[in-house]
Amino acid sequence: MRKLPGGIRHLPDYFDRAEQQALVDAIRLVVAEAPLFVPRMPKTGKPMSVRMTNCGPLGWVTDKERGYRYQPHHPETGNPWPAIPERLLALWRDVAEYEKPPQACLVNFYTDAAKMGLHQDKDEQEFQAPVVSVSLGDTCLFRVGGQERSDPTMSFKLNSGDVVVLGGQGRLAYHGVDRIYPATSTLLKNGGRINLTLRRVTP
Ligand code: SIN
Ligand code: FE2
Repeated sequence: MRKLPGGIRHLPDYFDRAEQQALVDAIRLVVAEAPLFVPRMPKTGKPMSVRMTNCGPLGWVTDKERGYRYQPHHPETGNPWPAIPERLLALWRDVAEYEKPPQACLVNFYTDAAKMGLHQDKDEQEFQAPVVSVSLGDTCLFRVGGQERSDPTMSFKLNSGDVVVLGGQGRLAYHGVDRIYPATSTLLKNGGRINLTLRRVTP
């Protein structure tokens, strides 16, 4: 297998089918309480192609006026975010190698045409904790590089049930999603891909 950049771990098939189904059911409850919203780029207001929501004490949001940030309430309903499902907290305890629990779980929903440009996750104050990512539903092509945008990148597929950990020297690695492979999973009734990322925001 190819060598991933330092600090990046890919754990294929971490969740079996039954666990994936249980996670989808838990995320459906989250979305019922905290509806998906369209994130917008700072300054330009250009919509991103994913729709998102969060669970946990904090959630990541972005809009034209105030840009990227964490906040304790949903940007449209004003309600606190729902709790992070226990199975995701257990995942963090298993793989994060960080004592405190995650504070935010960003939920990204990708339709067939959605993607995510190369970026760093750097809106947190704590970079000692990793970002832990779960893929559910259709396969995607994930791209990861180094800490500089100009560093070489490599790409690999993430399937439903896979986990990726960006930790250590990989914590600030550039990463993104080049494309979704439609109809590659039967997990989500209407297709598409869900990505969950667990983050620690404050030390
Ligand atoms: C993200 O970087 O927030 C999402 C990554 C992914 O969808 O795998
Ligand atoms: Fe990210």
